[in-house]
Amino acid sequence: MNIPDVILKRWSPRAFRNDPIPKEHLKLMLEAARLAPSSMNEQPWLFFVGLKGDVTWQKIFETLMEFNQLWAVNAPVLIMAAGRKTYTVKDIGENDAWAYDTGQAVAYLSLTAMHLGVFTHQMGGFDKIKAAQAFQLPQDTEPLVIIAAGYKAEPSILPPKIAALEVGPKPRRSLDSIVFGDEYGKPLNL
Ligand SMILES: Cc1cc2nc3c(=O)[nH]c(=O)nc-3n(C[C@H](O)[C@H](O)[C@H](O)COP(=O)(O)O)c2cc1C
Repeated sequence: MNIPDVILKRWSPRAFRNDPIPKEHLKLMLEAARLAPSSMNEQPWLFFVGLKGDVTWQKIFETLMEFNQLWAVNAPVLIMAAGRKTYTVKDIGENDAWAYDTGQAVAYLSLTAMHLGVFTHQMGGFDKIKAAQAFQLPQDTEPLVIIAAGYKAEPSILPPKIAALEVGPKPRRSLDSIVFGDEYGKPLNL
């Protein structure tokens, strides 16, 4: 038994090749997101998909903070994920799980991308107000994250300071510090 390969292989590069993602692969990534579970099966996620050279890509790109623009400029695909904050399946008002659910759908998308050899890099560093305006989102719908997707390139295509980040460690917290049994802070011995 092992952790699935797509989880072990996934990481968030900043150096992307210009090569486009085949449309059928992009569609599979979005289909996977569509299949994610959600509170009351509301499926609050929405995806705006930009292909390099089109108006959507440009609109998404222009909302990114400068640091992210420096590397995401090479990404052949930029996807903005947004979430609807009210329930529509039943008239029960606010949906507390909108961001949780949308994040989960993005995880499905990212792992399916990896399964297809496509790397993704999520970005919270963008102007959400500008993005909401650019896509004329309804009042109850909020941008959450922008996902750069494509194939990995050599770090040397990046400005040196950003290239250095490609090889740095991405440490994770130990299981002991996040998995508890009967008491907060008391590691569970598995
Ligand atoms: C919600 C979210 C927002 C992020 N925002 C940015 C960002 O604005 N710019 C960036 O370069 N990386 C961003 N990242 C990438 C994280 O820094 C990265 O996922 C984390 O360091 C773990 O590295 P790994 O994905 O390579 O395993 C973001 C990731 C997530 C999930």
